[in-house]
Amino acid sequence: MPQARGHWSSRLGFILAAAGSAIGLGNLWKFPYITWANQGGAFVLLYLLCIAAIGLPIMMAEILIGRRTQKSPVGAMAEAFGARWKWVGGLGVLTGFVILGYYSVIAGWTLRYFAVCVGWSVRGFDAEAASGAAFGAFVANGVLQLVLAGLFMVLTTAVVYRGIGGGIERVARTLMPLLFGILVLLLVSALTMDGAGSALGFIFNLDFSALQPRGALEALGHAFFTLSLGMGAMITYGSYLSRKDSVVSSAGIVVALDTLIAIVATIIMFSVIFSVPGMAEQINKSTAGMLFITLPQLFYAEVPFGVLLAPLFYLLVAFAALTSTISLLEVVVSYFIDQRGMARGKATFLCGATTFVLSALCGLSFGSSKLLSNFSWVYRGTDHAKSGLFDHLDYLASNWMLPIGGFFITLGAGWLMTRQATEGELVDDTTPAWFRYGLWRFAIRYVAPLAVAAIIVAVISGKDFS
Ligand code: TRP
Repeated sequence: MPQARGHWSSRLGFILAAAGSAIGLGNLWKFPYITWANQGGAFVLLYLLCIAAIGLPIMMAEILIGRRTQKSPVGAMAEAFGARWKWVGGLGVLTGFVILGYYSVIAGWTLRYFAVCVGWSVRGFDAEAASGAAFGAFVANGVLQLVLAGLFMVLTTAVVYRGIGGGIERVARTLMPLLFGILVLLLVSALTMDGAGSALGFIFNLDFSALQPRGALEALGHAFFTLSLGMGAMITYGSYLSRKDSVVSSAGIVVALDTLIAIVATIIMFSVIFSVPGMAEQINKSTAGMLFITLPQLFYAEVPFGVLLAPLFYLLVAFAALTSTISLLEVVVSYFIDQRGMARGKATFLCGATTFVLSALCGLSFGSSKLLSNFSWVYRGTDHAKSGLFDHLDYLASNWMLPIGGFFITLGAGWLMTRQATEGELVDDTTPAWFRYGLWRFAIRYVAPLAVAAIIVAVISGKDFS
């Protein structure tokens, strides 16, 4: 018996849920460190260009496919493009499972850092416990990794279990305003710091000589990840959108919020870093460790009201991660509900438990299990060799699965759907004045597929964007 399909209670509900999916560890952890590694300025500009010219049109395409078909990715592909396209939706479901498997591990770390910072704020900062060596010991503690990833999966499952309006939307409505509030507080504090000027200079300089071709492709790959595109997450969320709500302005707002938050997070982190002499050199040794090694030390040593802001900051990161893991699990769960006729409760438990097995394996791949931590198949023998399960899954999803999924979604939306169909979805009396249908169609038929094809070719020739 077909179950009644849930819907967002309003357009705002959809926007907050979709922004919640988009805003996550990609914005708060990955964007700052790839901006650092690519020396800011020109890279940031290029990233903004990728977001506007490629990310935004694909976001509109995914939401329109979802809203039109009112189905999750597998069914939506079949209905919008034909039965032979089902595999693109299937690939999306698998991608959701893979990303959730490793993402929930880092998400679990944010819970630990929140708890540790609360402890430091109450009892006083412990420099030894905040060192790089202590971080290494923490990630290699297998039992703790299982507990943290498990806890995060339980939180995620509990929300998805409650469905669209009562679960996902309600959590987004509560957490997203809190997240914006905390971020504003942090931004105000960061801008008063000595390093704020250097931080802004680093992020907004226009020195194109620092830009490598590899950086250009990295910007594009990250645009996919940060906007949750390429695996049908936005198709799924769009399928719960009522037909009277505008696709164009919703997509515009979600993309703008995601971009704003990434930039603000970067300004905050770099202001802190540049306020401490010598810190920049230290970051260069471990850019990926910025969020978990450098920042806690700086919060307590340098930031005014750091004892308050540090726990708040990790709470913010945990909130952002939770609204993202929810969207990843929802894609997998909605497949079992829509295509296999399973009840939501059963589907959620099944998918949550299966994913936890993968998270557990990933959590053990930072040193606690030699077998899972040390194997290296990709780029073996080079200085960017992948090692361990976590690394390999991130590589697989970011470099292969998302670009391939995104490529076929744009092809379908640009070339298989009729002009009449897409124009009917995008243009009505709610369409904002800045939107030009012809420009969208050009972007989705030519610009996006060619750019994504460039990533795939680059990956085949041995580049790495994870
Ligand atoms: N966009 C999220 C982030 O930046 C991660 C994420 C959630 C995601 N859902 C997704 C990435 C779907 C790709 C596809 O952290």
